[in-house]
Amino acid sequence: MKRKKIYLLWFSNNGGVFVKVNDKIKSDSKLWLKNDKEITSHGDTLLFVNHSDIFREIFDIDAKNGNGFIGHLSSFQNINPLDTPDVFDKESLLRFEKGETESSKIYSINNRRYFSYMNPLYIEPECLKCHGVQDYKVGDVRGGICIHVPMDKYDTF
Ligand code: HEC
Repeated sequence: MKRKKIYLLWFSNNGGVFVKVNDKIKSDSKLWLKNDKEITSHGDTLLFVNHSDIFREIFDIDAKNGNGFIGHLSSFQNINPLDTPDVFDKESLLRFEKGETESSKIYSINNRRYFSYMNPLYIEPECLKCHGVQDYKVGDVRGGICIHVPMDKYDTF
């Protein structure tokens, strides 16, 4: 969780990165930022991606690694519909707005029990480059980063 926040800061400091287009990072996957494209001298197409695309990829890799973790970003002012808060996220985001700094709960998704944990993501000066247009100011809760850890193996104890 802490590491993912560090990634977010790194991406924000650098304003995003260019990656080679593949079957996941497609040229039409952006919702908001200008879709900057570059063609290299080798003929590869590079696409500008923001931290959300990268996070989704990292969370996907986590999920496929067999640990069953489900992770996502969430916000009341979500730009991407995929980041719409669910019941647990909403409760957590409201707590963060009151000053709490973490939230957790045992939670069921598709009849499977998960330990759900969420941390707030606050607006830092670097975030305003993009999220400034949403009227945020430094220190505001921009959203949260959430992870659901399956309880199956712990339920047997
Ligand atoms: C280079 C532009 C850029 C910067 C800098 C940036 N973001 Fe984002 N952020 C985006 C875009 C674009 C999206 C939605 C894109 C998507 O999911 O396709 C997004 C989505 C999010 C979301 C998910 C909710 C939503 O709106 O869908 C959170 C939470 C978030 N950003 C937090 C932050 C924080 C905190 C910082 C600073 C530490 C930051 N962002 C810096 C561009 C940026």
